[in-house]
Amino acid sequence: MGTLETLRPGSVVLVGGGPGDAGLMTVAGRAAVEQADVLLVDHLAPADALAWARPDAQVVDVAKLPRGTFTPQERINELLVTHARAGHRVVRLKGGDGFVFGRGMEELLACTEAGIPVRVVPGVSSSVAVPALAGIPVTHRGLVQGFSVISGHVPPGHPDNRLDYAGLVASRTTLVVLMGVKHLPEITAELLAHGLDADTPAAVVARGGHPDQQVHSAPLADIATVALATVAPAVTVIGEVARFAAVLAPLQETH
Ligand SMILES: C[S@@+](CC[C@H](N)C(=O)[O-])C[C@H]1O[C@@H](n2cnc3c(N)ncnc32)[C@H](O)[C@@H]1O
Repeated sequence: MGTLETLRPGSVVLVGGGPGDAGLMTVAGRAAVEQADVLLVDHLAPADALAWARPDAQVVDVAKLPRGTFTPQERINELLVTHARAGHRVVRLKGGDGFVFGRGMEELLACTEAGIPVRVVPGVSSSVAVPALAGIPVTHRGLVQGFSVISGHVPPGHPDNRLDYAGLVASRTTLVVLMGVKHLPEITAELLAHGLDADTPAAVVARGGHPDQQVHSAPLADIATVALATVAPAVTVIGEVARFAAVLAPLQETH
């Protein structure tokens, strides 16, 4: 079964839409959008991709904004199943990759448990693409041999936080923090407490792939303060590779 397969009535396709620029959607993602009868769309999904939808397609906003419209996940699952049972070709369009902090598996399970045929079209995850858009590679030969993508949604010390910050520091991998701007002061303090050098380069890339993309660079000890100036969504990169933001920045200003 290929990802370019024709959508069948009564089925669901979970499409990763990339970090926000419709040009970063996959060919399979676009093909699914073009065929959909119903699209359930996140706020981080590329808005311009909706121009590819059929004029008669129903577009349902299922945003989960922290201080705005909030659609509970259970409601989204229910909508997927209800529309598919009505015989619609359903596309769930999300930002990035649906399986990276995207609750995509919950949606897949809701469909399979209801006996709805479902497939996955992976997307370009902001965890790698947003640093890349700012000229930051998450790995670089001779400098770093891996990267760790972590959620900053719950701060260190919170009962729901099971991250091992000492282990992250010891791993010597690039750290990529998603959903982390709000708790960046606590996260950086925890990394410093576990021995990460205060001078470690760091960068916050906000609204990656959008015309108003911003890149703020600072040593680890200062990055949380610098990040106060950013607008969501943003990805924080911590590690030697964050230095590379300075290479592309002058070129991005003039082009
Ligand atoms: C709920 S997570 C979803 C991640 C998504 N599934 C992915 O693979 O990119 C949302 C977080 O992704 C990051 N993010 C998504 N799109 C972004 C963008 N265009 N620019 C910067 N960060 C982005 C931010 O850290 C944001 O808080």
